[in-house]
Amino acid sequence: MSALTGGVQRVGETEIPNGRLVAELLRTQAIMLDQTHDAIIVRDYTDHILFWNRGAERLYGWSANEAIGKNMYELLSLTSIYEAPGIFAENGECAVEMRQVTKDSRQVIVESRSRVLRDETGHPTSVLIVNTDVTESKLLESQFLRAQRMETIGRLASGIVHDLNKVLSPMLLATRILRAKKMEREDRQWLDTLKINAEHAGGLITQLMSLARGIEGERTPIQLRHLIQETVGVLKRVFPESISIKTRIATDLWTIVGNATHVYQVLVNVCVNARDAMPRGGALTIEAHNTVFGGAPSSGYDGEKGSRHVLIKVSDTGVGIPAEIIDKVFEPFFSTKHAKNGTGLGLSTVLRIVTTHKGVITVSSEPGTGTEFKMFFPVEDPASAGNVEATSAQLPSDEPQGISGEDGPREADVNTKNQSPGQRPGRTNTAARAKAQSRKQR
Ligand SMILES: Nc1ncnc2c1ncn2[C@@H]1O[C@H](COP(=O)(O)OP(=O)(O)OP(=O)(O)O)[C@@H](O)[C@H]1O
Ligand SMILES: [Mg+2]
Repeated sequence: MSALTGGVQRVGETEIPNGRLVAELLRTQAIMLDQTHDAIIVRDYTDHILFWNRGAERLYGWSANEAIGKNMYELLSLTSIYEAPGIFAENGECAVEMRQVTKDSRQVIVESRSRVLRDETGHPTSVLIVNTDVTESKLLESQFLRAQRMETIGRLASGIVHDLNKVLSPMLLATRILRAKKMEREDRQWLDTLKINAEHAGGLITQLMSLARGIEGERTPIQLRHLIQETVGVLKRVFPESISIKTRIATDLWTIVGNATHVYQVLVNVCVNARDAMPRGGALTIEAHNTVFGGAPSSGYDGEKGSRHVLIKVSDTGVGIPAEIIDKVFEPFFSTKHAKNGTGLGLSTVLRIVTTHKGVITVSSEPGTGTEFKMFFPVEDPASAGNVEATSAQLPSDEPQGISGEDGPREADVNTKNQSPGQRPGRTNTAARAKAQSRKQR
């Protein structure tokens, strides 16, 4: 009987020259098995691992020593393969896509091809499995599909925007006619609410269209103080009384250049989210003040030292955002609300608008306590910054200028809370901007 030992084929004590070739071939094949990026596994019919190549070690993190002899489905946190969509075909082959768990608890998606191995009598003895890691390509595929969905929404929106404007025009005309009539003060307020919202509805639908196509629009100097006050006027009328709305707006806010409808949309989206986070009531606070980036060398911030921004802070005392999802809130279609209540487009639109204004947005939150969004809008024209002197050496400075009363939570305070994107104090804005930019490039 012949046996393969140490890569040399022997029959009794005689070494057969041909055996060297066989051994060499087997050695080459073993090297090839280890060189391939695929995970190659052989399991027996009780699901115990008999062979585990280097590719499997690299993909799953377990060495061959650790894996061999273990139950494959327990090791990779799988249910039985027979519950997977592809069962062995008549030819003894099977191809399925599976989610598996690695040694360090990462989830990987693999394309798995299996083949039944049989002995000379045709009796099945084991199963050869070749798993290719497709996690990255699946991620790219889902991003691509998401981008396609966004494009479809853009096309749909452009189709209805014309009709919607036709519907809105008579509504606006009616509010103008009614306004000329005598009416109670409260009724007039309701009418104003109707008019402002009808006007903004037109802006919003155009905005939805721009979300897929890239956000542009007329840019004019904006005094955020007026815009915030107008927004708060509307919110006070439409939000439940259980939510108190407080504002602290500096009297000398610098003028920014941008699109007023878009910035209004940012405020409405963030405030509506705050309302949704306080179903049993609470406090919504909107603050705004001038701020100057310090540009500390350690910050990594790519903005110029001394660049001027208007900071709008929107904070609530709502349910907060759990750490596991805070990185996802700016993603299109990410929503924790019931499908009917949230499209998940609110914050992705907000991010796009802030980015289009070359601004930065950050979020920090503490579940059970509340959430705070900070939006920094740059002041493009230094002349519009007036005579207000840069006083801050911090990065970025939250020091209010021209307002009285206590300031909101400082960077050091929010440091211990959930933040997105997760960064160290003082780097908040850098990372947020980098993230915003990378999204824009996609
Ligand atoms: N202030 C907040 N407090 C708690 N969670 C928030 C807050 N703002 C946003 N979120 C979370 O972020 C998710 C995404 O928000 P986003 O505005 O993008 O979508 P949405 O509000 O769910 O839907 P839409 O805005 O399209 O109606 C929300 O579903 C919620 O889980
Ligand atoms: Mg929302």
